[in-house]
Amino acid sequence: MTTRKILVTSALPYANGSIHLGHLVEYIQTDIWVRFQKMRGHECHYVCADDTHGTPIMLRAEKEGVTPEQLIARVWQEHFDDFSAFHIEFDNYGSTNSIENKECAQDIYRTLKANGLIEVRSIEQFYDPVKNMFLPDRFIKGECPKCHAKDQYGDNCEVCGAAYAPTDLIEPFSAVSGAAPELRNSDHYFFKLSADSCQQFLRQWTRGGSLQPEAANKMQEWLGAEGENKLSDWDISRDAPYFGFEIPDAPGKYFYVWLDAPVGYMGSFKQLCKAKGLNFDDYWKPDSDAELYHFIGKDILYFHALFWPAMLQHAGFRTPTKLFAHGFLTVNGEKMSKSRGTFITARSYVDHIKNTEYLRYYYAAKLNGTMEDLDLNLEDFVAKVNSDLIGKYINIASRCAGFLTKFFDGKLAFADGKPLLDSAIANGQVVSDSFENRDFARALRDIMALADRINGDIAAAAPWTLAKDETQREALHDICSRALHGFYVLSILLSPVLPALTSRVARELFGLDRDFSWADLAVLPTRINAYQHLATRLDPKLIEAMVAANQESLKPMTETQTAAKPAIVPIAETISIDDFMKVDLRVAHIVNAEHVEGAEKLLKLTLDIGEAQPRTVFAGIKSAYDPEKLKGRMTVMVANLAPRKMKFGMSEGMVLAASGETPGLFVLSPDEGAQPGMRIK
Ligand code: 2FM
Ligand code: ZN
Repeated sequence: MTTRKILVTSALPYANGSIHLGHLVEYIQTDIWVRFQKMRGHECHYVCADDTHGTPIMLRAEKEGVTPEQLIARVWQEHFDDFSAFHIEFDNYGSTNSIENKECAQDIYRTLKANGLIEVRSIEQFYDPVKNMFLPDRFIKGECPKCHAKDQYGDNCEVCGAAYAPTDLIEPFSAVSGAAPELRNSDHYFFKLSADSCQQFLRQWTRGGSLQPEAANKMQEWLGAEGENKLSDWDISRDAPYFGFEIPDAPGKYFYVWLDAPVGYMGSFKQLCKAKGLNFDDYWKPDSDAELYHFIGKDILYFHALFWPAMLQHAGFRTPTKLFAHGFLTVNGEKMSKSRGTFITARSYVDHIKNTEYLRYYYAAKLNGTMEDLDLNLEDFVAKVNSDLIGKYINIASRCAGFLTKFFDGKLAFADGKPLLDSAIANGQVVSDSFENRDFARALRDIMALADRINGDIAAAAPWTLAKDETQREALHDICSRALHGFYVLSILLSPVLPALTSRVARELFGLDRDFSWADLAVLPTRINAYQHLATRLDPKLIEAMVAANQESLKPMTETQTAAKPAIVPIAETISIDDFMKVDLRVAHIVNAEHVEGAEKLLKLTLDIGEAQPRTVFAGIKSAYDPEKLKGRMTVMVANLAPRKMKFGMSEGMVLAASGETPGLFVLSPDEGAQPGMRIK
């Protein structure tokens, strides 16, 4: 087997928030793949870093009364500790605010500039005259120009889902100071993605096999048809004050956070090169024979499949071998939610459940290498851990190891070693293919089928009965040896998923002075040490406690929250009953609910209110609801609202949902018994 040189990355988490179970899907997925490659003997390096730049981090540091450097140092440690707790083993975990990253970002920028791909243009943008800073769209709020909801962000309305420019907002204000923003001009630096060389390159690169088929299709949509120039230039600069790297020869201009974030992969790897004496160019120059893989969420495909390869290509570097995009995490079939207690941080999981390999196992059992969303069903989580891990795998050793040490001094004896080895190697090959293809679900199904076979043999031989009969020693020795060989094979195959547990198995039980490698499948173990307890069943009460602890609505109010209690949006002007009666509210049956291609906030609802034809309504509730969960529900709609033409079609009404100052959006439902079309008054 030839040794491959592989460089692997996971997306860099922002340094302004905690790691949660959603993040962990990706890091666990990547870590399993990397561990598998290392076990196979390949030269594989796994690097990542905190993504530290940008306005939100700058403002948060200011609010906390610390410097951005102090803030990111603290968060770095928290992130690093969280990853370590989940056995995510980076070869280097850096920060985008490193000298190495600065060098890489500036080097790339200079080459792009030398190649004529940087252009300076003046743009008009909102400026906060109190804070003396330009405001990113997210930091401008105001009244929605479409539905007139107050307090909406500068890019889109969370109530009606409309997308607009911050300049369209009615009575805009700065979310930082509250001041009315002014429009001011400023020079911005653009990466000319619209240049022919970029478009042509991307057209060919996105079709070249580096993307999963679903991702490649999406890219073709973004790129448009041949000859169509759909990509616009990318604004890569931000004005001071900004926490980031200053652009060379452009005082007061900083690289936009998304410019130096992917470069952070290089920066982090550069640190590893220094520490380990590796050659950076061997991995990053166009003639590199190394493989480069980025694991990412499907939400950041645009940056990784367009901007990043175009930057690399035109700055004299190699492009990624493959991008591995995954879907989002849902918990119990719905988006993670603070009010349901399913927005769970890595730390909270560790505090309540402790055993992080249970989650690694569950995620692995669901990951199949596609971009489909992954559901953490908490009941199923407990059932799977207890039935597979404990009931099938651990059970083999806990039932048979004791007899080997008690009666045979820990020695294993096989009548026919060769067939056992052959089948271990054959099983290893099948499972290895699945790991390589990131179809961990399939790998685990095959591994558990093997465990079922071994458990079947144990049940048939009933060693606990044999042990009571002195004349059956040979048969007892045989079944227990086979069982422990089976356990050894399973442990090797499970090592990428359960690194800590299988490390104990290798060292404590089989007496190795190292962790397992894939090559160990070709060796028959000859003896074991006394079995020590390896894992306990997962108690569902721990899950209940974790969910309860995360349930925002159940958390006792802090003093400041209580003091600030009347923080509701002010009550609107008084109206007469006649005014109210003008609004025709009806009970509606949600016949269908679906995602809308290209819409970030909207779901498309089909509503039956007893008319001949159902109505179509686009509702800005995607952030809070899985469409599957809405189907069949009753709700309330405004039935006499003038139809509105939206980007995705005509919206024939509006569904009612509650929202407030705290996160969350809650669609209304009538009490049981209400029928579609009933009027609400
Ligand atoms: O989406 C995010 O969380 C970004 N911080 C990911 C950056 S990935 C890479 F480009 F750095
Ligand atoms: Zn609106």
